Amino acid sequence: MTTEQTLDLPEFNPTSEAGFRDPAAICIHAREARPVFFYEPLGVWVVTRREDILKVVTEWQTFSSEANNPEVPEAFRERFPQDLMDKMVTAMDPPEHTHARRVLQASFTKPKLEPLAPIIEARAHGIIDEILADPATDRTGCDIMNSYCLNLTTKTLMALMGLPDSDRPLFEAMRLHGGMILAQTRETFPEPQRSELWEAYVSENEYFRNMVEERRDSDAIDVISTCASARRPDGTPALSAERIAQHMAEIAFAGTDSTAQAMANAVMFLSSKPDYVKEALADPSFWSRVFEETVRRRPSAPFTGRITTKEVTLSGVTIPEGAPIWVALASANTDPSYHSCPMEFDIHRENPTDHLAFTTGRHTCLGSPLARVQGPIGIKALYERLPELKMVADQPLAFADIALLPIRQKFFVQWSQPE
Ligand code: HEM
Repeated sequence: MTTEQTLDLPEFNPTSEAGFRDPAAICIHAREARPVFFYEPLGVWVVTRREDILKVVTEWQTFSSEANNPEVPEAFRERFPQDLMDKMVTAMDPPEHTHARRVLQASFTKPKLEPLAPIIEARAHGIIDEILADPATDRTGCDIMNSYCLNLTTKTLMALMGLPDSDRPLFEAMRLHGGMILAQTRETFPEPQRSELWEAYVSENEYFRNMVEERRDSDAIDVISTCASARRPDGTPALSAERIAQHMAEIAFAGTDSTAQAMANAVMFLSSKPDYVKEALADPSFWSRVFEETVRRRPSAPFTGRITTKEVTLSGVTIPEGAPIWVALASANTDPSYHSCPMEFDIHRENPTDHLAFTTGRHTCLGSPLARVQGPIGIKALYERLPELKMVADQPLAFADIALLPIRQKFFVQWSQPE
């Protein structure tokens, strides 16, 4: 690696306080001065310009997704073969990716999800009722991340998967462990935590394998039954129970935290924009704009990864074959060559959905139709009930210490006029 490539960009540190506060801000200098650079602490090439990022996420023959698969420790490979980990939907290329995606996609279409809006709205209000009635909160504030955002997205996804309430501890464990395993693609935990994590993850996977087998002949429309009953043209199951259980773990994580982060981030932005709250309360169609602008300005996944299948040049920088790449979605979404006043939070943008928070191409977020129903509704319900809602200023940052997926774990809010 030449010094030219290993540029010293001190402000680019995704797990620094500045990185957690504003992933887009730590990319500004890099995008101008050295838009493609090798980031030694993680051993990845970082790509910051929107134009380059579009190439990376759409040209799958050159930028493979097979970089996104963590290594299964030797001790667990009998119960959980490496091949199974390599078949995560985020970590496959065509044709295997196309096949799995088709099976999963059947449950995440707009026509299936949009009619759920009133159910999700009622669920959101039910949770707010509980928060306001809970003597543990002082009824004027709480940690909204857990009590509301994650609570709502978890309940919705469990309902979609056809899981009873009694499975909630298991589902939550699977969500947590799935995220931690995925994050280990480049950031491996020390022992004994690594083995403890894998033991938990593999056991959860085994539990779900049994559930898949039980639903093989089901004609129910929940996500697990839909995947379990899908058949190839020759009548054999489209996906093995191991594979479906693995995809459920991916979805448990990807489908809950991401939208929950977006809802909390919306509150963060709206806390300094009371006029936007008034505008959206007067015209509810604006809640979708609030959601889209939130994920544009601060995507729930600030990065996503690929690996080069051949030597390639981006913005004049040559990247070798077999090099892991992180595209900075937070940077693409705030690239001034495409977005005007990119760092502004502005709900009046001409094309509010024109951003890369869900990326584009073959791996574009499977759950975006769900996120686009649940996100705006979740934010709307909050402000309808608590119009004075604001984040608690100067609260300590509480993020999972993971560069790829900096998950906010707590977010304190207050409201001055309880119901
Ligand atoms: C605000 C909410 C969300 C955001 C910002 C988000 C963002 C993303 C991003 C950036 C990717 C990676 C795409 C790539 O590498 O090209 C992705 C993939 C994915 N997302 Fe989401 N997501 C959200 C909600 C959801 C929901 C609700 C679900 C499921 C119910 C979900 C399921 C998935 C899955 C399964 C993939 C992998 C798709 C593939 O590789 O083909 N996401 N998402």
